[in-house]
Amino acid sequence: MTDHPLIHYYRLRAPEYEAIYYRDTPARNAELHAAEAGLVQRATGQTVCEFACGTGYWTAAMSQSAQSIVALDAAPEMIAEAQRKDFGCPVELRVADMFAWIPPQRYDLVVLGFWFSHHPRQNYAALFDVLFRAIKPGGLIWMIDNNPPAEGPSGDTVSSHSAGIDADGNNLRTRRLDDGAEHTIIKNYFTELELRSAIEPHAAIRHLTYGDYYWTVGLEPII
Ligand SMILES: C[S@@+](CC[C@H](N)C(=O)[O-])C[C@H]1O[C@@H](n2cnc3c(N)ncnc32)[C@H](O)[C@@H]1O
Repeated sequence: MTDHPLIHYYRLRAPEYEAIYYRDTPARNAELHAAEAGLVQRATGQTVCEFACGTGYWTAAMSQSAQSIVALDAAPEMIAEAQRKDFGCPVELRVADMFAWIPPQRYDLVVLGFWFSHHPRQNYAALFDVLFRAIKPGGLIWMIDNNPPAEGPSGDTVSSHSAGIDADGNNLRTRRLDDGAEHTIIKNYFTELELRSAIEPHAAIRHLTYGDYYWTVGLEPII
């Protein structure tokens, strides 16, 4: 699984990834910090499972208030970055493919940051299966992702250019890492209506914030 092009890309990007959280755009930062405050509040006293945790940005934020967190990512280099952080609650960091991992228990809160945009749109059922098998009855799934950026001609948040649309309608971007190497990945953007249409066949939306830069949702399985 670590040979999957998306994982390969993120393995290489791990040391430079967290720059996305420290950009000099006040309106962007305000949205990000509001989302973060909402998540920290939501995580209070909760057992948390975070999929595709990357460098542990959200893990560290939630650890201020959560009871405990298991956070996994398929890229060992991402987990190595996360291991350098200080956490405020017990955090278990694991290298694991979320599609193969069997949760040892169910959790109050399941978190997925900046993943939905990378997931092939023809296969959302598989993603929701993964989320649902980790969530306790009455628990919440929280996701955040990017909105179409208005801040640069590249149309992306990192150095990139369009690589067209694949046969299933996924938006492809070719991104450039600091060493100049280019990687083509899926990066889907959604209007609020498109987002609701993508999610609602699978999950009940409990809250949705659609900003200029980010969207966040809280979801429950449809019973
Ligand atoms: C856009 S990054 C998001 C990182 C983090 N969630 C955040 O919001 O900062 C996507 C992450 O998904 C991880 N990833 C890709 N495929 C995965 C898989 N099958 N299982 C677990 N993690 C995966 C990548 O290694 C990368 O760290």
